[in-house]
Amino acid sequence: MTGSSNRMPAHDLDFVPKAAQIAREAGALLRDYFAKGVETEYKGDVDLVTIADRSAEKLIRTRLSEVFPEHGVYGEEGTRDRLEGEFRWYVDPLDGTTNFAHGFPQFCVSMGLEHRPAGTEPGEDGVLTAAVIYDPTRNELFTAERECGAALNGKPIHVSRVAELAEALLSTGFPSRKRHASPNIHFYQEFTLRSHGVRRAGSAALDLAYVACGRLEAFWEFNLNPWDTAAGILLIEEAGGRVTDFGGRHFRISSDEILASNGLVHDELVGLFCDMFAGRNLSPIPTPAEFARERAARAK
Ligand code: IPD
Ligand code: CA
Ligand code: CA
Repeated sequence: MTGSSNRMPAHDLDFVPKAAQIAREAGALLRDYFAKGVETEYKGDVDLVTIADRSAEKLIRTRLSEVFPEHGVYGEEGTRDRLEGEFRWYVDPLDGTTNFAHGFPQFCVSMGLEHRPAGTEPGEDGVLTAAVIYDPTRNELFTAERECGAALNGKPIHVSRVAELAEALLSTGFPSRKRHASPNIHFYQEFTLRSHGVRRAGSAALDLAYVACGRLEAFWEFNLNPWDTAAGILLIEEAGGRVTDFGGRHFRISSDEILASNGLVHDELVGLFCDMFAGRNLSPIPTPAEFARERAARAK
């Protein structure tokens, strides 16, 4: 999926400007729905979906088929078009639906293009080639093309130079299905105690874009999908950062874990993941009951 493949992507096509135009159109549609307010449905647990998610995916699917008629489209809201082709767009038409449904202005459109040259096996990763993430509430357009760098509203961006976890601002997210099966709150706690803090802003694609432009030093999450991550991964790689699984191994499209950083704090984070999965090195904090007993003792 990422840059370790030695197959070179095609560079003679105008992927980013055309996709950026489509992302802006979808973003304008989201902005309109956001202003009006929308009804919410449940896909599961607290996994929400709205008419805005579905309409934005329909718009993107239609526009991609006009602009790139041979390209495949793999969208969160069910689009599975032309997946046998050489190029495939991973589309999240609205990343941050829960925020959107609550009127919390942190959401985006995410579109990542994978090049899958002839001979790529079905389970094999291609090469991420183009990326567009558009935040319609701030009018921020993040773009990247492999080997051409990453940009925010047309200006080059780079990951931050912060080299110590103790001085890093981090971000993560939590699943909206099977919430009780996720151990992430433990990582949230530990990384909070060892850094400047951990944000949980509710849009994984924007979290990744923020690592790429240096607003965050790192992001991690369990169980994301390719539509959440494809564009953000290329942005970070092109901005000089690093993306792996929690063990520091090569990130694959099917990976259950993503750790993305400015590169400089990466090994420290991988070491902490390793320690925590082995049950080592946790910072003690009081349980609520211990805290209540101490508070009661202080009050006497
Ligand atoms: C969600 C967001 C959120 C992340 C969840 C994702 P959605 O995507 O990216 O930040 O924590 O895991 O599912 O459902 O809003 O497209
Ligand atoms: Ca998403
Ligand atoms: Ca979504």
